[in-house]
Amino acid sequence: MASNKSSSTHQPLTLLLFFLLTLSSAHAKGGIAIYWGQNNGDGNLTSTCDTGNYEIVLLAFLYTFGCGRTPDWNFAGHCGSWSPCDKLQPEIEHCQRNGVKVFLSLGGAVGPYSLCSPEDAKSVSDYLYNNFLTGQKGPLGSVYLDGIDFDIEGGSNLYWDDLARELDTRRKQDRYFYLSAAPQCFFTDYYLDTAIRTWLFDYLFVQFYNNPPCQYSNGDASLLLSSWNTWTSYVKINNTVFMGLPAAPDAAPSGGYISPQDLCTKVLPTIKHTPNYGGVMLWDRFRDVTNHYSDQIKDCVIVDDSVRVSQTVMATLSNTVSQCVSAAFNRIIPKLRPF
Ligand SMILES: *[C@@H]1O[C@H](CO)[C@@H](O)[C@H](O)[C@H]1NC(C)=O
Ligand SMILES: *[C@@H]1O[C@H](CO)[C@@H](O)[C@H](O)[C@H]1NC(C)=O
Repeated sequence: MASNKSSSTHQPLTLLLFFLLTLSSAHAKGGIAIYWGQNNGDGNLTSTCDTGNYEIVLLAFLYTFGCGRTPDWNFAGHCGSWSPCDKLQPEIEHCQRNGVKVFLSLGGAVGPYSLCSPEDAKSVSDYLYNNFLTGQKGPLGSVYLDGIDFDIEGGSNLYWDDLARELDTRRKQDRYFYLSAAPQCFFTDYYLDTAIRTWLFDYLFVQFYNNPPCQYSNGDASLLLSSWNTWTSYVKINNTVFMGLPAAPDAAPSGGYISPQDLCTKVLPTIKHTPNYGGVMLWDRFRDVTNHYSDQIKDCVIVDDSVRVSQTVMATLSNTVSQCVSAAFNRIIPKLRPF
């Protein structure tokens, strides 16, 4: 009888701790994604990752591919006369060892890129898989990148859904890697909507800049916030949305820049409570170097709900334990059920 009683006291305790861990991991979110590679002022990848400011670094861009084109990259001067650019391999690995995910971004503002058929989408998928996702020797050395990003802003709007599905098939066979897309905030996105509706993108880096109908302007966040709500309710709960912003005013000639103060006081407090909020994407590393934007926003990008929730549960837990009354558990357990 006595031993029965003590084991039934421990069971809720273990359960409670389990809930705690689940809660804090599920709610510990809010990071910064950054595009790197379009300006020598970016600094190298190692120093970019060593800031500790970023969750994801997007290598920009693989800008020539598809329809039988020989793939080509543009990483500004980062690789000298550069193909292949395997000197990036140790830097990519350095980032990954430090918990930063490294993606290859396809597309960008300047092409030529497009896909000509579902078969072409498959051959581009094979190319990406073999060269960047398997550790086989490719243009960036023998790397296992963490993801592929679709920043499709030109060419044709066809077959991007096929490419997403082909890559998804690959990631289900062996090692999981992420898929992301960077649509314009103007809804729906002309180039990417069909692909977005596969719901296969783990991350959406929506560009809320250079798009006057859906961006922040002159201290007014209404267009931005209503567009944010449109996007976050359109996609599925497992499609994490980042608010894409310029890291400095000159990063977006057609506007959308938000000062760090305004972002932290007028925007983030609202959008952080969206269930599929993931954080902020910045264009681009060079402007972040000059404007120190991520340094100023990194603390307010994080969702601190988990801290508050854990503190409350911890306080309740230690109270209960100090009282040493097993009946108290029965009062707490029902309260936890909503989680
Ligand atoms: C990266 O840049 C830093 C700062 O300029 C420099 O000290 C470091 O040697 C560079 N690392 C690589 C791998 O190029
Ligand atoms: C998200 O969930 C949908 C089902 O609602 C599923 O089809 C899709 O594969 C999932 N996407 C990711 C990125 O896990």
